[in-house]
Amino acid sequence: MKLDFETKKVLAGMVAILTMVFIGIQFTGPKLENPIITGDFQAPPAVKDIVRRSCYDCHSNEPNLRWYDKVAPAYWRVAEHVRQGRKGLNFSTWDSLAPADQKAKLWESLNQIVAGAMPLKDYELVHPSAKLSGSDIGVLKKYIRSLRVRNIPGDTAKINALAKQTMQVKALKAPMDLPKALNGISYIPDYKNWEAVSSTERYDNGTMRIIFGNDVAVKAIQEEHTNPWPNGTILAKVAWDEVEDKSGNVSSGAFKQVEYMIKDDKKYASTKGWGFARFKTPAMVPYGKTETFATECVNCHQPMSANDFVFTTPIKH
Ligand code: HEC
Ligand code: HEC
Repeated sequence: MKLDFETKKVLAGMVAILTMVFIGIQFTGPKLENPIITGDFQAPPAVKDIVRRSCYDCHSNEPNLRWYDKVAPAYWRVAEHVRQGRKGLNFSTWDSLAPADQKAKLWESLNQIVAGAMPLKDYELVHPSAKLSGSDIGVLKKYIRSLRVRNIPGDTAKINALAKQTMQVKALKAPMDLPKALNGISYIPDYKNWEAVSSTERYDNGTMRIIFGNDVAVKAIQEEHTNPWPNGTILAKVAWDEVEDKSGNVSSGAFKQVEYMIKDDKKYASTKGWGFARFKTPAMVPYGKTETFATECVNCHQPMSANDFVFTTPIKH
């Protein structure tokens, strides 16, 4: 194609303007600050290497930005990822977490890695070295398992807790009024009649949990319509102490809590289409100090946004 002089002039002008805009934006937008490292994550070298390579760019105060990360507009996105990433998990301030919280963060991290939510997929595309192999995940799993709370065989404290709880439940005379969380969601006793769709063991804190689904949830699983889940779905996650006998058999001990996620994309639009509620102890004490307590739930479920904010991969019957 032959361009006449006028067209060439216009094109050259456009290229010049775009170049100037491109250079101009390099000086605008958010800038990433790197606060000091107060207490770095400590772990065996094999574990530390994996975490450093795959997670530190967004979850530490020492991101290793490549030149192509530093060019706006990509840089703005990188800076925002680091800002958001650090908010929930920062390996550079690791020692500010209590040991139990450190274990919980690692457990949560493993969940998100296994679920494919972390490291962020678009980042992985551009930084292939951050991708975790099956054996990397194996190393992390083994390490997190090594931190597990050892069950004490025949743990009298746990057995007594269960006995006490059973007595208390028996002593309840009238059926209790259904407790209500601050966002208006009531305790739903019927979950005990629902189908178990998955179970998990939290080896970091010695509890076991079962996830139940109501009829709508079970139908959605059978029809493979779980992304998004249909309105009317309710998932209930229940946690108990884990009690181990002398031969290593594990059974459920005292009841800890039940949590619900109720799907209604209009009613709960402000919390990603799910109504969240948690009730603790057999007295079913609603969790949360203010009406916005569910922000906490949403934030931790956020990395599962591509999976309708649900972690569980249901077992198909
Ligand atoms: C490219 C940036 C990036 C990388 C790399 C990355 N993350 Fe994230 N991570 C985020 C962002 C952003 C969030 C905030 C939630 C969201 O928007 O998805 C987050 C959230 C999390 C959370 C939830 C924190 C909370 O409690 O609020 C965990 C856990 C997590 N990431 C673990 C990891 C692990 C483990 C790795 C490495 C295997 C990793 N991430 C790699 C950006 C990243
Ligand atoms: C620290 C992170 C974190 C926070 C905070 C959190 N969740 Fe979850 N939630 C998880 C993980 C991880 C799972 C996967 C199930 C498991 O392994 O226990 C889960 C699973 C669930 C499930 C079963 C469905 C699913 O997504 O797999 C429900 C219901 C649930 N959470 C409700 C809540 C409610 C209600 C709150 C707030 C009161 C909340 N969660 C806060 C991490 C979190």
